[in-house]
Amino acid sequence: MSERETEEQQHLLPSHAADISSPPPAFRTFWLSKGGTVSTPYLFLAFVSGILVCLLPQYVFSGSSCPSSMSSADDSAHVLAPPYVGSTEVHNWPPPSPTNDLPTLFPTNVGHAGVTPTGAEPALVLTAPSYPIHTGAAQLVLPPALHAGGKSNKGFDLFKKWGNLSPWYSVKRGTFGVNSDPGIRQTLGLPLAVLTPFGRQQLFDLGISIRLKYGFLLQNFTDALPVFRTESQDRMLASALNFAAGFWGIPYEDKYLQSITIEAGNFNNTLAPYMTCPNAGVSGKADRGTPFLKEWTSVYLKETRDRLQGHIDGYALTIEDVYTMQQMCAYETVAIGFSKFCGLFTEEEWEGFNYGYTSAFGAPLARAQGIGYIQELVARLTHTPIQTHNSSTNSTLDDSHITFPLDHNLYVDATHEVVVLNIITALNLSSFAANGPLPTDHIPKQRSFRVSELAPFSTNVQFQLLSCPSRESEQIRIIVNDAVAPLTGIEGCPEDADGMCPVATFVAAQKKIIASTDWAWACHGDWEVPAGHEWNTTTGDVPVSQ
Ligand SMILES: *[C@@H]1O[C@H](CO)[C@@H](O)[C@H](O)[C@H]1NC(C)=O
Ligand SMILES: *[C@@H]1O[C@H](CO)[C@@H](O)[C@H](O)[C@H]1NC(C)=O
Ligand SMILES: *[C@@H]1O[C@H](CO)[C@@H](O)[C@H](O)[C@H]1NC(C)=O
Ligand SMILES: *[C@@H]1O[C@H](CO)[C@@H](O)[C@H](O)[C@H]1NC(C)=O
Ligand SMILES: *[C@@H]1O[C@H](CO)[C@@H](O)[C@H](O)[C@H]1NC(C)=O
Ligand SMILES: *[C@@H]1O[C@H](CO)[C@@H](O)[C@H](O)[C@H]1NC(C)=O
Repeated sequence: MSERETEEQQHLLPSHAADISSPPPAFRTFWLSKGGTVSTPYLFLAFVSGILVCLLPQYVFSGSSCPSSMSSADDSAHVLAPPYVGSTEVHNWPPPSPTNDLPTLFPTNVGHAGVTPTGAEPALVLTAPSYPIHTGAAQLVLPPALHAGGKSNKGFDLFKKWGNLSPWYSVKRGTFGVNSDPGIRQTLGLPLAVLTPFGRQQLFDLGISIRLKYGFLLQNFTDALPVFRTESQDRMLASALNFAAGFWGIPYEDKYLQSITIEAGNFNNTLAPYMTCPNAGVSGKADRGTPFLKEWTSVYLKETRDRLQGHIDGYALTIEDVYTMQQMCAYETVAIGFSKFCGLFTEEEWEGFNYGYTSAFGAPLARAQGIGYIQELVARLTHTPIQTHNSSTNSTLDDSHITFPLDHNLYVDATHEVVVLNIITALNLSSFAANGPLPTDHIPKQRSFRVSELAPFSTNVQFQLLSCPSRESEQIRIIVNDAVAPLTGIEGCPEDADGMCPVATFVAAQKKIIASTDWAWACHGDWEVPAGHEWNTTTGDVPVSQ
């Protein structure tokens, strides 16, 4: 077991029977790292199965203009797909004789699964005060308005009017005449470090959603199979396969090629860059988020601690305990369906929680850790192999046109949500960055960085390539969790109502970023982040060498 995995297991150890009236001694180890300092990024990494789905589809529009991102009159996402092709078309998958179907290059068992202890089975029926509500069909689109002939009803839900063709939804309690609900009877242990049933569903749903959006791109794979990448860690592999099950349906094994890169110490891997970046280790050097989080939690949870302490005898709650309880609310809910911790906190305290995570633009290693992926992105965009392997890239994999093709029009990569944040930072999507260091005594009114928008479960980033008659050159657009991201922080990219930037401009800027990012110094250099405000980064860069 690597040191990182040991650390990870330590963070995740006993959390079962976590009853607020008598926290067991092991409760605190969930929160504190070895040195006694807070280690949030790793804590999150240890459990959340984030995924990055990167697509490089090429759309060609026959209409006169590129699709706009439409102004949103409501809360729903408006990212337009190309015109529908027609329902008489037939497309058989997979292609009859793909030239890249070479099983030895895509082993299914590469080891290095990391820690995989599991906890108790969930028992929602016993632990929750009510059943969860299933509302239906997140992936499907309804018309903005129905035929205006009749009276319209505000609560009208077309999905519920389709009889036996209606998507499944929870029927309201009491509908059939019985009004009972299960009550809370016990507390369960959490599954540790493995993908949870809910996590499975999020990835499966994402697979379906991406297939509905981009399935048409498969028509161009006439003599090759698409290559999807993920890492060997158990829950990442499980995430990728659940995505595949949603995207392809089962059986999915013969429908595509799954590259499983090794996530372990000393293996170059752009999807797990910290594994070859000693300074990103658990020493705390990279952990710029730590002082921020410590200062911020001591502000927003001060009164909360006093309030909760009023209910407890014989144990002195720390701010860290209270923060852990907030985390437990989310962890327990996604792992076993319900958590008693959630009800302990006010809305304002949840706003505080959602502000307390900084591992992107404020982290000194963010850019360096994201740069390998940027090199791969540029290779795909320019159909040119990576020239110099001087970051987290792996030449064995990246120099092979079988394991790292450069001429496909659909690529899917899965990685941890912290790596997604690293990549967003390295891309210079600085419209998400703060103008200066984030204040630790209040939440600023104007802010663009919200972790739940950029790095939730199944977080997904889509890189779209577009050609259309109304624009002279090929365009690129980046979509983060269904919203178009502004590219204006990237050198040369114009202000654009639809968030597009000419590919050539985008590539030139990314090459400049690659040339000015020094992986060796960032990952191996002897730099220090001084305490307090002596040094600030809002660009994910390390202090320069003196
Ligand atoms: C498929 O490939 C052809 C030929 O390279 C190209 O003209 C077309 O735009 C591609 N279609 C899609 C949907 O990528
Ligand atoms: C590159 O990846 C391959 C396949 O996962 C692995 O065998 C090899 O050791 C890696 N190379 C380095 C330098 O990490
Ligand atoms: C692994 O990364 C190091 C550091 O960037 C690089 O020097 C080395 O060539 C890489 N090895 C492979 C096989 O890509
Ligand atoms: C990246 O962003 C920084 C600060 O936001 C800016 O100064 C720099 O010019 C950008 N560089 C590129 C190549 O986009
Ligand atoms: C790494 O290689 C790229 C070319 O792929 C180059 O632009 C960059 O300057 C190199 N980085 C360092 C620190 O030498
Ligand atoms: C860092 O930010 C703080 C707060 O905005 C500011 O007071 C301080 O001068 C900055 N330090 C540097 C070195 O820029």
